[in-house]
Amino acid sequence: MGNDNISVPIGIFDSGIGGLTVLEAVKEQLPAEDLVYLADQENVPYGSRSLAEVRSLSVGVTRYLLDQGAKLIVVACNTASAAALHHLREVFPQVPFVGMEPAVKPAAEHTRSGVVGVLATPATFQGELYASVIERFAAGVEVLQDTCPGLVMEIDAGNLATSRVRAILERSLDPMLVRGIDTVVLGCTHFPFVIPTIEKIVGPNVRVIDPSPAVARQVQCLLDANGLVASNSQVGQRRYLTTGDPAKFGLLLRQLTGDSAEAGQLVWEGGVLKEESGD
Ligand code: DGL
Repeated sequence: MGNDNISVPIGIFDSGIGGLTVLEAVKEQLPAEDLVYLADQENVPYGSRSLAEVRSLSVGVTRYLLDQGAKLIVVACNTASAAALHHLREVFPQVPFVGMEPAVKPAAEHTRSGVVGVLATPATFQGELYASVIERFAAGVEVLQDTCPGLVMEIDAGNLATSRVRAILERSLDPMLVRGIDTVVLGCTHFPFVIPTIEKIVGPNVRVIDPSPAVARQVQCLLDANGLVASNSQVGQRRYLTTGDPAKFGLLLRQLTGDSAEAGQLVWEGGVLKEESGD
């Protein structure tokens, strides 16, 4: 069955470059798969928008990726997952989706101090998905939350190791350290790009959880379950699209992942994504 699916891509999206942390994990787990990545940078950050707004953007992005032939959609954005995953599954019942949720479960299972920190956007903390994760997995554990104001935009602009980024992270993490966290959950896909700074602040005794490898394994499970795995004999191709500036995206892509592919430009027109005509 796999051969029928050659060149049928997996669609992956985020508000910006954060989902590239997930794309890299998927690429490593499934090197034969073609991937189409869409960054809705015209609308970044999603995290300070209303859930309804993020839901409608997510439907538009998903529709575009399905029009490109995507066989599975990875919502590589905690905020879009919180706002829209349930809705997307209802609107596109035939499509397999993999979404993100803050990795509170492994954090709660492994904490020894009984105090864990979660870093995510305001919209993620507001969504029902987060409330249900806390209810299901965090019994008996103290969970501290912070939104790291400004951090998504710094990272999306490629500012990773600046003093400003360090200051934002210290403001969030220092009070958590005082209260005894031994685990930090990265509940926003942009944040793994600043793990080195986070590790410098929290030190070697605090575990930092990046959920991308687990998400990539889940993609593999769903492809297997749906008979959608690409043939092993091919090397997967990657295509990148942005509603922001393709040149800036391309620079960051190369800096962050080493991929020197060019990005295509998309524009929103009345809630629908279209290819930029080029003039
Ligand atoms: N990378 C995103 C997330 O995982 C969204 C950040 C944003 O646009 O606010 O939540």
